[in-house]
Order: sequence, then C-alpha cells, then structure tokens
Amino acid sequence: MTDVTLTVNGKERSASVPPETTLLEMLRSKLNLTGAKLGCDVGDCGACTVLVAGKSVNACLMLAVQANGRDVLTIEGLATAEAFHPLQKTFEELASLQCGFCGPGIILSAKTLLDENPDPTVQEIKDALAGNLCRCTGYTKILEGVVDAARIMNGKQDAA
Ligand code: FES
Ligand code: FES
Repeated sequence: MTDVTLTVNGKERSASVPPETTLLEMLRSKLNLTGAKLGCDVGDCGACTVLVAGKSVNACLMLAVQANGRDVLTIEGLATAEAFHPLQKTFEELASLQCGFCGPGIILSAKTLLDENPDPTVQEIKDALAGNLCRCTGYTKILEGVVDAARIMNGKQDAA
C-alpha cells in the first residue's frame, strides 16, 4: 500500500492505496467523491476529467500516487458557498445536459479553457471539449452554455 495525500477542493485528504490505484479510483472509492465518472477507463471519453494543479486530466489515466502532494479540483469543489460557477448556471438554464453523465468532465474542461482564454471562439470551445464525449445532447446546448458563461464572466451578460 502507498500513502497518498492530496489537497482536494481545498482540503487535505489522505488514503492508503495499492500503488496501481488510479486517481479516479481514489477519488471515487476512498474519498467518496463520485462526481468524476468512470466511462471508458482508457482516456477516450473525458467523463473522469478533474483538474490537477489547474490542468484538466483524465483521472482514469493518472495514478493516485502521481498526484501526491498536488491540488485537485473535482466538480464537487467548483461551486462556492455563495454561488454556482457561471458554467453550472448556464448549463442549468439552457438544459445543456440530458443524462448528465458527461457533465462534470465537460464543465471542468470548459473551466480550464475559460481560465486560460476568457473569450474563446466557438471553434476554440469545440477544440477544448474535443476530449469530452456526450452520448445524449448533440453538443449544441453545451457549446451555448460555455459561450454564455464566458459572456457572464466577462461582464457582457447578467447572470440570471
Ligand atoms: Fe477516463 Fe473515459 S473514463 S477518459
Ligand atoms: Fe448524457 Fe452527455 S448528457 S452523456
């Protein structure tokens, strides 16, 4: 067993895990954070996306021990006590998701984009979300949700 300590959503969390444990397994099974989803388990679908040191990663491909000592953000940590993140608001308002399975990963990939590029083009949004698959929606409302969130974050549109 290997001791792994992460700062997850601002809180230090530790677990003793077999060395082959993925970050996704540790989050879901040891830390009870089930927002990141197990989809393909091979890096194709993006359902497991979390941020490690501010960068989106497929948690199914990263060993927990590789994240040892680092900051991890999961969807559970995106909203503050005061408010949802603009992406969460616009996705809800537009009904951007259907079953929701892809949602945590898509929203965290979109957050990474908006943190780095606050005013992206639609093509840049498509490129940023290329690693996140959705089996339900056709993506149109997802793209609109990211566009609207960017407008809110840039002060060009009021949050509802
Ligand atoms: Fe990780 Fe699909 S479950 S990319
Ligand atoms: Fe169902 Fe995206 S809303 S997979």
